[in-house]
Amino acid sequence: MTNEIVQALIWKDNALSVLDQRQLPSVTHYDDYSDAQGVAEAITSMRVRGAPAIGIAAAYGVVLSLQQHYGKTSEWRDIVAKDIEALAQSRPTAVNLFWALDKMKSVIAQESANLLTAAVDCAITIHLEDKAANRTMGEFGADIIANAKGILTHCNTGSLATGGYGTALGVIRSVYARHSVNIYADETRPWLQGARLTVWELSQDGIPSTLIADSAAAWLMKSGAIDWVVVGADRIASNGDAANKIGTYSLAVLAKQHGVQMMVVAPTSTIDWSLENGNTIEIECRDPLELLPQSYDTQDSLVSAWNPVFDVTPAELIDAIVTERGVVLNPSKHTNGIASLRA
Ligand code: MRU
Repeated sequence: MTNEIVQALIWKDNALSVLDQRQLPSVTHYDDYSDAQGVAEAITSMRVRGAPAIGIAAAYGVVLSLQQHYGKTSEWRDIVAKDIEALAQSRPTAVNLFWALDKMKSVIAQESANLLTAAVDCAITIHLEDKAANRTMGEFGADIIANAKGILTHCNTGSLATGGYGTALGVIRSVYARHSVNIYADETRPWLQGARLTVWELSQDGIPSTLIADSAAAWLMKSGAIDWVVVGADRIASNGDAANKIGTYSLAVLAKQHGVQMMVVAPTSTIDWSLENGNTIEIECRDPLELLPQSYDTQDSLVSAWNPVFDVTPAELIDAIVTERGVVLNPSKHTNGIASLRA
């Protein structure tokens, strides 16, 4: 039942297949990539999305660049560096992207005799370790949520957003495997990751869920139907402030008001130890036309749109941060923030 069958990224025959998430749930279509620039475009255009999945795709992108250029010209280092830069520019907020690129850069810097093999191994390890981390987090999170009757989640944090199983959705899968629980998913405007991806992904695994409009969250909490909000993260600062899909901060404020608990689930590759707090996390603002009805897209239109796609939830509003290295309860109450999770 909880054997997730959806795969966002498949590495096969030295090429990367990417499930085009923009077409879900009506069309399940994979595109094959053999160069890094294509992978960078797939990330920017959100064919692949979700912090860990973006990092994994970028790691495979570096492998593709090496396959194309390593040893074929004396300029290969410069060409690969340009490809890495294109991958780094693909989206700004999820730190997993930069974490994965740093890992690939250190493999290249070692210049081993078997550089291609070392690079493939590193990318596959990033992929498999993420999947394993999700399984571990699933159990840690489910231990805490033990008796919940209702859980609300936001965006998509499942197999589609990760190496497999999922972060927040992994915890929800693990809770569901232990006992029955009502799972609610926000539709997650404007990209509808909840409506198009989360409820679809759960149904692929035979797990029932209930979709709500984002604006119904307060009323749902007021009804007493949920005990926990469980979300992922794109970047977590050292004090526990967590950037995640726009609307997460609203949920945290609502949760506080209604006595609902707030859990953030993310692998340690999502923690940006260089940041003291979340104030300087770059928040991606996407094209207003992703939000604006087309009829307003005229030269003399008086209507514009502001389209930030992430927000930052302050640590004070978070009850638990769950990672594969362990859990920090009430991160704002620790003088060292989430330092206990540092390797
Ligand atoms: O814009 P997206 O779809 O890439 O945003 C994804 C999210 O915000 C997820 O909640 C986050 O990446 C955690 S996914 C495990």
